Amino acid sequence: MNSVSGPFGPKEIHPVRTGHGAISPWPRYDAAGLGFRNYWYPVAFSREFGKKARSVQMLGEQIMFYREGKRVYAFRDQCPHRGIPLSVGRQEFPGTWTCRYHGWTFELGTGELKAALTDGPDSPVCGKVSVRSYPVEERAGLVWVYMGEGKAPPVEEDIPEAFLQSDSVIVGRITERRGNWRYAAENGFDEAHAKYLHRYGSLRTLFSQLPAWGIPKIVQDGPWITRAKIPGQAAFESDYPGLGRWPKTRFWKKIIRRRGGTLSVRLPGLLRSQYLADAHYEWYVPIDEHQHRYLQFLVTRARGLGALFYRLRYFLYRRWLFHVQFNNQDAWMVELMPETSPERLFRPDVSITAWRRLCEHARGEEDGKISLEQQLREMHAETQVAAERDG
Ligand code: FES
Ligand code: FE2
Repeated sequence: MNSVSGPFGPKEIHPVRTGHGAISPWPRYDAAGLGFRNYWYPVAFSREFGKKARSVQMLGEQIMFYREGKRVYAFRDQCPHRGIPLSVGRQEFPGTWTCRYHGWTFELGTGELKAALTDGPDSPVCGKVSVRSYPVEERAGLVWVYMGEGKAPPVEEDIPEAFLQSDSVIVGRITERRGNWRYAAENGFDEAHAKYLHRYGSLRTLFSQLPAWGIPKIVQDGPWITRAKIPGQAAFESDYPGLGRWPKTRFWKKIIRRRGGTLSVRLPGLLRSQYLADAHYEWYVPIDEHQHRYLQFLVTRARGLGALFYRLRYFLYRRWLFHVQFNNQDAWMVELMPETSPERLFRPDVSITAWRRLCEHARGEEDGKISLEQQLREMHAETQVAAERDG
């Protein structure tokens, strides 16, 4: 079995995310290869939903989206008759959608079969069959879908406030990437990689001096958990026993001492990097077990010329420097991550284990035994013990 020891002793021994859940401290996380369903997920920009039906794979399911009038509707993209994708169908009557094969006609919104056109107006199958439909909302220039069980919570519960202000300026980029969504989320909140992976080959940090090392404290802040800095537990350069000083001083890197933004993560897989003037957000939406949709945005508050200037800066250089070149370094690592990797964690990985613990408290599947706050306190205490022991 792929069980390995964790960062703070034998307590953390667990099988790598096999999905089998045996002796794992995060069984819900292990089982969430296709995401946590009881959340609203962003799908794409509203402007991409026109008159044509669109099929999008999310959380392992193929969903058909169709805009009629001001509303967007979503169905499972499979006709209950013989399984043909509904997205190749057409509209015969307002408020409905008709399957291209034999003309079964479903009501938008409810998914109920209203007519089986080729069986006549008195077809007895009507009213007995429906296709699963999903609640859809539009906010912040994006289409959102809820694929969970039961009544959907208000969509605003799953959208950061920064997106919902009347003067929010939102710019961004949506791409599809290889790798399970959990590896992308772990990479996003991972403490140590930025200090090494992004040190070399990233134009965004070309003139920045990055810290050599740091051990964070993870704190809860509403739905978010945040990487807080611990005084004295980070440095821009250090002496490594028997090796020497690292990193090497580069005169051009003295210009900016970059500590980066304040990083937070929340369910169902949303990262925020808060800067002084704006914030970067990224969602990792499962497509299937092996791919995810990566939605990244920069968000600020501005109007008029300020808003125009912000957009201009984004499309002139920030998009390429940050959302393409810098973040492609992360995609490179996520793609290289094996499906069942060995796992011997080290102290900075407290960020990863805290995120997995947060996942155990996902909506509709809470682990009621110990509060997340209590768990984070214990993890921090363990990190301190480990720091004293190893330091
Ligand atoms: Fe859809 Fe027959 S497969 S109507
Ligand atoms: Fe990164």
